Amino acid sequence: MLVFNTNTDLIGYLKSNSTTLTSIGFVPTMGALHQGHLSLMQKSLSENEITVVSIFVNPTQFNNPEDLAKYPRTLEDDIHKITILDPNIIVFAPTIDNIYNGNTKSDLFDFDDLENQMEGKFRPGHFNGVGTIVKRLFEIVNPTVAYFGEKDFQQLQIIKKLVAKYNLKVTIKGCPILREPNNLAMSSRNALLSFQEKQEAAILYKTLITTKVKFEKESALEITKWVQKSFEKNPNFKLDYFQIADEKTLVPCTRKSKAKKYRAFIAVYVNNIRLIDTIPLN
Ligand code: PAF
Repeated sequence: MLVFNTNTDLIGYLKSNSTTLTSIGFVPTMGALHQGHLSLMQKSLSENEITVVSIFVNPTQFNNPEDLAKYPRTLEDDIHKITILDPNIIVFAPTIDNIYNGNTKSDLFDFDDLENQMEGKFRPGHFNGVGTIVKRLFEIVNPTVAYFGEKDFQQLQIIKKLVAKYNLKVTIKGCPILREPNNLAMSSRNALLSFQEKQEAAILYKTLITTKVKFEKESALEITKWVQKSFEKNPNFKLDYFQIADEKTLVPCTRKSKAKKYRAFIAVYVNNIRLIDTIPLN
């Protein structure tokens, strides 16, 4: 399997094959790969001539240094998983210096207010970091299609906005959330949970699925109060936010409109490990 550690090597390789290449599928990741990532790679393999996977823990999208320090890093194991899936996948695993060239800072973006909701509010600067790395990776890989999981639904909307604003020639595809047997959304951070915490974290999806039922009759405000109250009673979890929002603008729902699509979003700390999940409501 080909593993490139510098952008010049990867660009050189892709350029030398560019006359015959019809499509490049791209799966950006921060490693600690799970079945959700592998499903994105499978989709890319089925739709493109070649697939590139990046593995890079991007420091500029972490607002909390502790979160960055403890983020799981399992490069060897990740490469092994990719080889088993398909040894033709090309891996790009650059160093921080290779990407940021001695200046590990985010560029500033305006994503038409999408960046100021939820994750943006609770993780200041997060989406400038995401925008910076994704734009740089797109410049290096020059993909035809890029694949992102819907668990990070706000990120997905922001990347679509990035592509539209900068007129980037890449199609963005959102792919469904994969879940553990107890319905916990698959996430690299799950590797940091104990067995018991993982079992208990099923509460995120239970909350979302109950929200979906309640949303048929109750207002977004009533449901939000119910969620906040139920988490107050549960000392093992700290609710960061729960929000029912318009899927397109991500603005909180104050009055339901039949013309709009809504989603519920939740972010919860379990023993300092931050988990997020989302569900479409109508
Ligand atoms: O979703 C992720 O894993 C990251 O935010 C991404 C898109 C790879 C950028 O670092």
